[in-house]
Amino acid sequence: KNIALLAGGFTGEYEVSLNSASNIANNLDKAKYNVYIILINRDRWFYEQGSERFDIDKNDFSLTINGEKIKFDFAFITIHGTPGEDGKMQGYLDMLGIPYNTCDVTTSAITMNKAYTKTIVHGIHGLNTAKSIRLFKKDGHDIATIASALKFPLFIKPNNGGSSVGMSKVYTPGELPAAIEKAFHEDNEILIEEFIKGREFSIGIARLSGKITVLPATEIISKKDFFDYEAKYVAGASDEITPADISAVKNAQIAEIVTEVYLRLNCRGMARVDFILLEDTQDFYFIEINTTPGQSSASLIPQQVRAAGMSLPDFYAELIAE
Ligand code: DAL
Ligand code: MG
Repeated sequence: KNIALLAGGFTGEYEVSLNSASNIANNLDKAKYNVYIILINRDRWFYEQGSERFDIDKNDFSLTINGEKIKFDFAFITIHGTPGEDGKMQGYLDMLGIPYNTCDVTTSAITMNKAYTKTIVHGIHGLNTAKSIRLFKKDGHDIATIASALKFPLFIKPNNGGSSVGMSKVYTPGELPAAIEKAFHEDNEILIEEFIKGREFSIGIARLSGKITVLPATEIISKKDFFDYEAKYVAGASDEITPADISAVKNAQIAEIVTEVYLRLNCRGMARVDFILLEDTQDFYFIEINTTPGQSSASLIPQQVRAAGMSLPDFYAELIAE
């Protein structure tokens, strides 16, 4: 099988995507798959072999190397953010009839958008979500109105972002303008969200051999003010405890919620759902779902797969077989 491992993309998560791709490539069975890492940049889609670059023919998503045309049986997308997590690549591959590992166009587009996802998850399933305001760059905004509508501290995030790129936590209205500008640098729309104080968990889920498998939950204890880019990817900047130290009852509850979110949003492949567990009421707050979750050696899904007693090569092979 020829596998195109799609990496790169157009966002601040480019490096993360390259790390995800190299970890996936290292864990794909070479006896079963010919793996080609295809780098997706705005100006060029290509495969690199030594110092040579071979451009993708976008008409049929093929490569020609030394006169030999290579077509792909499967696309394994590991681009975080646009165009690999928001439906664009999915739509392109659908048009060509090439199967891929992620959710379809609609689910990818919705879940990339944190505001839409929260509305659906809250509206249909009654799950708790943090109170927030969505701002569009083109509309302008008034700091005093925002500051009086929400309770500090606040998170400012690009609405279609990931890995905390462009994200800030602010404690006072005075910090808002710089934080808003930083988030608008990444995205044309941003989310200003109330901070929910509690324990933070992230849970992977995937359909494997036709069966929904919820991976062991990870509790994140960041040594930074929040689980920012550095805390996510620099060794030692956060404690990530997998499996999380929570009661069997809470574990079962969280698995049920994650499964419900995955099914109702019509997800495919693997996904990772982030939650906060409130200390006082013991309620779960839904933060977001990641439909192209990080696969670098520092990322959570690889840790969770190992904690579940599975091997990464088996896990990826099952995702390709689905
Ligand atoms: N957006 C990053 C890659 C994640 O969800 O793991
Ligand atoms: Mg995310």
